[in-house]
Amino acid sequence: MSAPPTTRLDVTAQEAATICAAVRSADLSLLSPMHRIAGPEHVAGLIVLLSDPAVSDPIYDLPRPFTPDVIAGWISDARNKQTRGEAILAVTVDDQESVAGYSYFTIWPERSAAELAGAQRADAQGQGRGKMGAARSFGWIFEHLGVRLIGLTAARDNARSARVIEAAGFIARGERQSVRADGSTRLSLYWELTRDQWRNASQAMT
Ligand SMILES: CC(C)(COP(=O)(O)OP(=O)(O)OC[C@H]1O[C@@H](n2cnc3c(N)ncnc32)[C@H](O)[C@@H]1OP(=O)(O)O)[C@@H](O)C(=O)NCCC(=O)NCCS
Repeated sequence: MSAPPTTRLDVTAQEAATICAAVRSADLSLLSPMHRIAGPEHVAGLIVLLSDPAVSDPIYDLPRPFTPDVIAGWISDARNKQTRGEAILAVTVDDQESVAGYSYFTIWPERSAAELAGAQRADAQGQGRGKMGAARSFGWIFEHLGVRLIGLTAARDNARSARVIEAAGFIARGERQSVRADGSTRLSLYWELTRDQWRNASQAMT
């Protein structure tokens, strides 16, 4: 179960409403031409993707088991949440339109905050795509969805995720308990990044 960032920003009702509207009409083509909003047509592909432990084991907030009913329910729940401005479940597809990865954006409009979880197929891991794709997603959350704070967690032994997160400029904020869908807990590393920090770092690089 996703939890909002520890830091709490002051957010006006107008800012929250603007974020809700941006989430409802989110344009995934700004992320890549291979991104799609997850729909019933992706159930089978998501099951294949997530059934690989190299993909799903590090992720605490996936619904389990990976059966057609559970995954179809996850997709339809995310669609309902998107209409409320609270989530976007996206898949990436390969050139055969097979599911090659997923991203789950959780948004708390009233806190101007977001979290991102995701994975790509094992044969695409470790080739530098994660770092690039994650950086693009963080920029999209800040600039397209209009959110001002992102909080991220990763399992303590997930070195690749930590590299991806810290390369994007996130600041380590210690550890937090993550709660899995079945109620069990996992101790996670925790990071935060604000939109101002992101913009300053992006400007420094240009
Ligand atoms: C996490 C994930 C999205 C990262 O994407 P990726 O394409 O594999 O990552 P990259 O190839 O961009 O590598 C990221 C960094 O980790 C480093 N890295 C790669 N394999 C590593 C390993 N086994 N141990 C330590 N670092 C490793 C890379 O060198 C790179 O760092 P650098 O550019 O500073 O050298 C992807 O591995 C994945 O889907 N993993 C399974 C699910 C998961 O862990 N999701 C995140 C949950 S928080």
